[in-house]
Formats: sequence, C-alpha cells, structure tokens
Amino acid sequence: MLKTSEPARTDAVVVDGLRKTFTLRHTHSFKETFLAALRRKPLTTQFQALEGVSFSIKQGESVALLGYNGSGKSTMLKLISGVLSPDEGKVLTRGRVAGLIEVGAGFHPDLSGRENVYLNAAILGMSKKETDALFDDIVAFSEIEAFIDTEVKHYSSGMFLRLAFSVAIHTEVDILLIDEILAVGDEPFQQKCLARIRGLHDAGKTLVVVSHDLDMVSNLCQRGVLLRGGSIAFDGDSKEAVAMMRAG
Ligand SMILES: Nc1ncnc2c1ncn2[C@@H]1O[C@H](COP(=O)(O)OP(=O)(O)OP(=O)(O)O)[C@@H](O)[C@H]1O
Ligand SMILES: [Mg+2]
Repeated sequence: MLKTSEPARTDAVVVDGLRKTFTLRHTHSFKETFLAALRRKPLTTQFQALEGVSFSIKQGESVALLGYNGSGKSTMLKLISGVLSPDEGKVLTRGRVAGLIEVGAGFHPDLSGRENVYLNAAILGMSKKETDALFDDIVAFSEIEAFIDTEVKHYSSGMFLRLAFSVAIHTEVDILLIDEILAVGDEPFQQKCLARIRGLHDAGKTLVVVSHDLDMVSNLCQRGVLLRGGSIAFDGDSKEAVAMMRAG
C-alpha cells in the first residue's frame, strides 16, 4: 500500500456559498425620511458585502485574507468568529475560535484591565481557576502591569491590543483570527506577537490573518485568499496572491 507523506487533515473552517448583505440607510432624521418618502426616493439600499464565497481551511493552515479597503475581509472574519451571521450559505468551524478583530472589542470600558482579562478569558471558554493560573503570564506578556488595575477606558489602542492579544494566545485556541490590529502595536511588541503567532502555527493552530502589511503577511502565511468586491478573486500561494493584488 502506498504511504502518503501528508496525513489527512480535517477542516477547521468551512465557508459555503456565503452571502452577507448590509442595509445602507440614506436618511438620518424623521424629516429627511418624510421628504424622501414624498419624493419616492429609496430610504435604504441593499449592499452585498460578500457574495458566493466558498472555501475551506485545513487544521493547521495559515491563511492571509487579502484585498483592498472595503473588499469584505473584516466582514469575513466576523462571520467566521460568529459575531455576524450570514444571509445565505453557512460557516462551520471546528474547535475554539479566538478573534482579535477590532481593537477594544470584547472589553468593558468601565472595568479594569484585570477584570477584563477574566471577562475575555471567560468568553474564550476558560474557567476562573484556569485564568487564575495564567493571569501572571498574561499580564507579563502584555507588559502593562502598571495599568492592570486601571479602567480600560483610559487605555491607548496599543494597550488594548497588548492585553487582548495576550489573553487570546494564553487560552487554548484552535483557530486564531487576526484583523489588522497588530498595526497598532509598537515595533518591539509586533515582533513579539509575530514570533508568538509563528509558534502557534508550529504547534498546529489554524490562523487567518488580515493585514495591509503585504510582505509580513505573505511571509507569515503560506496561502492567500484575495477578495475583490466581496468575492474570491484568487486562492492559492500567498506570494502569488500579493502579486495579483499589487497588479490591481
Ligand atoms: N455594519 C455594516 N453596515 C453597512 N455596511 C457595512 C457594515 N459592515 C461593513 N459594511 C460594508 O461592507 C464592505 C466590506 O467591509 P469590510 O469592513 O469587510 O472591508 P475590509 O475588507 O475589512 O476593508 P478594510 O481593508 O478597510 O479594513 C464595506 O463597503 C463596508 O462599508
Ligand atoms: Mg477591515
């Protein structure tokens, strides 16, 4: 019997026939709405942010999601993480998903950094006991010990990122979704995060990364999925995907 070098890997993410439509409002007050209705102007239009998108990601794969502003990358990550639900099609994920999607998302402004660590860890499925055991490591990685008992509404964007990233990488995640947020970290912290992300990939975790730093992301990820106007324009080697994006 032939031996295959590549063991069969199961899918971590399956996206099938996905459509996401947003309703765009054109009026902002009762008066505007009234006048628009009188003139028979449409009050809203439907905007297709994603249309007919299908792809799957194997466990342990690292995928760069590429595309110009407004092409649907963040919407795609929100659908994978379950923050948004599709209008048509389906998204299946296997394992624990942690999404670092918007700076400060998942943080409660009036709670301290310490309380938010527990809140975020609980959202990611960790018990208080598990979080207690990891708390010091989480804070040490974030390097914001001095501010850990300050309410997070006084945090800078970089401080949010440091804490959110630190919680996410210390929890038992199977799929890590990262949207652009590394950009708000300073250079040493970005390098530290990248090293950690590489480590997670080596440990077999599944990564989906969105970044406009095309060289960084194509080095980090083997595969590139290029979105154009809400549909997949290319799915293959990340370097080729970047070349195609740059070619316009
Ligand atoms: N909640 C919403 N309501 C209306 N339109 C939305 C909403 N969220 C996203 N959109 C629209 O969907 C399109 C895709 O947005 P998305 O944020 O996914 O783009 P992106 O690829 O992440 O862009 P960027 O590179 O600028 O981050 C945009 O035209 C955006 O205006
Ligand atoms: Mg985005």
